[in-house]
Amino acid sequence: MTEQKIQFVPPGAKPGHGARPVRDGEKLTIRVMRYNPADPQSVPHLQSYELEQAPGMTLFIALNEIRDKLDPSLQFDFVCRAGICGSCAMVINGRPTLACRTLTRDVGPEVILAPLPVFELIGDLSVNTGKWMRAMSERLETWVHMKQAELDLTRIEEKMDPDLAEKIYELDRCIECGCCVAACGTARMREDFVGAVGINKIARFRLDPRDARSDADYYEVIGDDDGVFGCMSLLGCHDVCPKELPLQTQIAFVRRKMAAQGFR
Ligand code: SF4
Ligand code: SF4
Ligand code: FES
Repeated sequence: MTEQKIQFVPPGAKPGHGARPVRDGEKLTIRVMRYNPADPQSVPHLQSYELEQAPGMTLFIALNEIRDKLDPSLQFDFVCRAGICGSCAMVINGRPTLACRTLTRDVGPEVILAPLPVFELIGDLSVNTGKWMRAMSERLETWVHMKQAELDLTRIEEKMDPDLAEKIYELDRCIECGCCVAACGTARMREDFVGAVGINKIARFRLDPRDARSDADYYEVIGDDDGVFGCMSLLGCHDVCPKELPLQTQIAFVRRKMAAQGFR
């Protein structure tokens, strides 16, 4: 293990940017941004680890190998290993994406890993996306606002048109990984900006026929510079979303609807 000074990685660089496929058995160098905000002695720095490229190795496997064999103090998050839980998002060679879905052969032979910006840093590659997502969710009230005031457990479930259910499902595929927020210039500048993830959620609830809210109600929560009007439309979010959600279309749609409310 060697310690080195932090080097600048161009934002927006793709995994594999400047890289060539790594052959099995070849040396793989993984350089990790280390910092523990809870330790007053800790200073941000890049730490290098060397591994051997193995067939089908993902960054999930590589980081676990480092923690098991080289450095048990390394902090990072994984739950599902299958691109479902969203907890393994990190900046890989300058681009926010999921480590469990990234093959080391595509990003090496030298890989630089950093934690997602914007979110509270827990340590090394681990960030608190949950705290950010909860605050966004409370601000936008991302739950179905039922039309009838009283809960009636004897009522049978309302039918939904399958095509509409499919459209809602498409937007519900968001795994709250935070990649879109980490790639967003506005989120860096405005602490309370709801990001593409929040705008996408408004688009989702607006589609839902069970939700009683009107566009005027949505305007109340998203019709300002911390909402859809703070978005600069540079679409870093759309480029990095690992679930390939149609963020560009949804942002444009919500902006149009909210602008119409603003002129009422
Ligand atoms: S919109 Fe995409 S990038 Fe953003 S949190 Fe959801 S899945 Fe992740
Ligand atoms: S298009 Fe809007 S939400 Fe997406 S990255 Fe740019 S400013 Fe952020
Ligand atoms: S570990 Fe769940 S998305 Fe990567």
